[in-house]
Amino acid sequence: MRLAERSEKLTARHLVKMKSKGRRIAMITAYDYPTAELVDEAGVDTVLVGDSAAMVVLGYPDTRFVGIEEMVTFCRAVTRGVRRALVVGDMPFMSYQVSAEEAVRNAGRLVREGGVDAVKLEGGKEYAEAIRAIARAGIPVMGHVGMTPQFFVTSTGYRLRGKSAEDAEAVVKDAEEVARAGAFSLVLEFAVSEVAEYLSSTLEIPVIGIGAGPKCDGQVLVLHDVIGLYERSPPFSKRYADVGSVVLSAVRSYVEEVKAGSFPGPEHTVSMDPKEWEEFLKRVGR
Ligand code: KIV
Repeated sequence: MRLAERSEKLTARHLVKMKSKGRRIAMITAYDYPTAELVDEAGVDTVLVGDSAAMVVLGYPDTRFVGIEEMVTFCRAVTRGVRRALVVGDMPFMSYQVSAEEAVRNAGRLVREGGVDAVKLEGGKEYAEAIRAIARAGIPVMGHVGMTPQFFVTSTGYRLRGKSAEDAEAVVKDAEEVARAGAFSLVLEFAVSEVAEYLSSTLEIPVIGIGAGPKCDGQVLVLHDVIGLYERSPPFSKRYADVGSVVLSAVRSYVEEVKAGSFPGPEHTVSMDPKEWEEFLKRVGR
C-alpha cells in the first residue's frame, strides 16, 4: 500500500505538533499532478505550490510574473495528486500587497478553487495585517521572511540576510511580528544560521529554512533544483538527481527511432483482422 494511503492527511496543527516533538519537517515544491503524486509518495510533510513556478515552470526571470489565475491552476493540479502532505499555496506578487481585504479574497481563491490547505505570503511587519486578516477568515497562513524574492527590487536584490547585528535584529523582528499575527509557521530564506537557530529556538511555530542552515525546524527546496530540471539554481540548493539528462536522452532516442523508422514497432501497432481488411478492400473497390 502507498505511504499516502496509509497515513492521515496532515494539517497546519500537525506541523506545529511536529515541532513540539522535535520532529523535522520536510517540505518541497510541486506545480503539477504527476510530481505532486511523487513527492507525496516520497514522504514529504508539506508541498508548497510556490510562486517559483514563474521561473522554473513558466521560464520568467523572477517570481513576480505569475498571477493568481495561474496559481489557482497549479494549486488545483497539485491538490489532485496529494493525499497525505499539507498543501500550501503561495500568494503571488500583487495578490496581497494592495490591501488586507484583497489578501483575504485571493487566499480564499487558492483554498476554494485551488483546494490548498494553507497559504503562504512573503514579508514581515508590513504584512502582519494581511496575515491577521487571512487567519481570522479561517485560512492557515505560513509567513516568509529573510530574503523575500518578490521584493528583490526594493530590498536590494537576492542578498543574504542577518549578516550584521542590525540586519539580524530586523529579520528577527519580522519573524516575531509574523508569528504574533497568527502565522502557523514560517519560511526563513537565505539567512545566516545563527538567526535561524535563534528563531527556531525562540518561536513556538515551526521555522522552515531554505539557505538558512541545519538548525531550522524543517527544510524546503524547489523541486526543479532537487531533480536537476533548472539551470539557475541558487548555491544553497542541493541537486539529488539529474532528471534533465534522463529526459534529454529519452527524447533523443525517440527522435532517432522516428527518423530511422524503428518506432513504432510491432508491439505498439494494432492491425485489423485479415478478413475485415479483405472486406474493406472490396468495399473501396480495390
Ligand atoms: O516559491 C517558492 O518556491 C518559495 C520557496 C523558495 C520557499 O517560496
